[in-house]
Amino acid sequence: YQRDRSSLLAAHELTAKLYHHLLNNTEFGIEAKDYLRSRGLTDKLIDHFMIGYAPERWDTLTNFLSRREYDLELMERGGLLLPKNDGSGHVDRFRGRIMFPLWDREGKVIGFAGRLMGEGQPKYLNSPETILFNKSKSLYHFHHARQEIKKSGKLVLFEGYMDVIKAWDAGVRNGVATMGTSLTEEHVEIIRRAAQEVVVCYDGDKAGQAAALKTIPMLEKAGLKTSVAVLPQGLDPDDYIKDKGPEAFIREVMSQPVSPLKFRLIYSRKSHTMVEEEGRKNYVIEAVRLIAQHDSAIEREFYLKELSLEFDISLDTLKQNCHQVREQMQKNKSNGDNNAFSWNNGMNEKRR
Ligand code: UTP
Ligand code: MN
Ligand code: MN
Ligand code: MN
Ligand code: MN
Repeated sequence: YQRDRSSLLAAHELTAKLYHHLLNNTEFGIEAKDYLRSRGLTDKLIDHFMIGYAPERWDTLTNFLSRREYDLELMERGGLLLPKNDGSGHVDRFRGRIMFPLWDREGKVIGFAGRLMGEGQPKYLNSPETILFNKSKSLYHFHHARQEIKKSGKLVLFEGYMDVIKAWDAGVRNGVATMGTSLTEEHVEIIRRAAQEVVVCYDGDKAGQAAALKTIPMLEKAGLKTSVAVLPQGLDPDDYIKDKGPEAFIREVMSQPVSPLKFRLIYSRKSHTMVEEEGRKNYVIEAVRLIAQHDSAIEREFYLKELSLEFDISLDTLKQNCHQVREQMQKNKSNGDNNAFSWNNGMNEKRR
């Protein structure tokens, strides 16, 4: 087992170097290089992130590893090669893709993500689960972000590889991303051991915001101070930096994170038509319900006051309503109905 591991680690390291070389120094990489440039990646970034290119051929890596006398069966189990359909030998797993090495905490290459330059599925092909790579425990670029995470006590959680890369370039040195999965309890444990505070900076689309909504209570439950850096509708951090520049990203997005409650309010607001009276009323009702779920009386009053001012409803009325919702919550809870406000149950549990 240990022998297989070290052989696979060596193969991954060499493979990363091969792809990086093919991108930088051969005609195979010309189109890929143009693509990366069009996405705003400088040579410095391409080097730091060891980005490479896997040519649109079946045997580039297979031949390379075979010539170096690697056990191709092992390379197949390690996710670098695929068996040929007729069982006679191997072919490359990654073909015609921009290659992003994935590292473990020590900075050893343990897998790859390969992105298509055009349309097609999957957009990113990730290494499968192997003896080296376990995606539910891996955070992209953690080995480099670690230093700044330790220093500041703070970690920034992105959705994608390109977000980490572009944000790094913009000066966010404590950014990591999950690798094609949603955040797992194992990820939370790794984060908890490294940081006290997390800023969630997911994509400004439906999927990203819904993912943030799920992620927040997991972090809070682990005792991590959590906030959310919100992006405008439809943009992800990488798009934002491309459109508005790195300074704007730091100033407008990273420097203005909102509390989880504020984020839930913003999210709820988007699902109501605020130009209609009905929509506004429904939003206020939902907002009070969200606020009511928070155990801090100060936080409740703070946001009720905001609502009161914005919608010109007396603070007393809102407080009264909030109180009613809380009483109802208590009743539901003692009746064992835990579904009513499931997202916050963990928090309440912990604080009691
Ligand atoms: P996104 O769809 O937001 O992609 O997925 P992205 O990061 O913005 O990618 P670009 O900018 O188009 O290149 C977020 C993350 O989900 C994982 C990847 O980690 C990706 O960065 N993912 C997405 C996959 O693993 N496979 C996919 O096919 C798509
Ligand atoms: Mn280089
Ligand atoms: Mn996304
Ligand atoms: Mn994205
Ligand atoms: Mn993107």
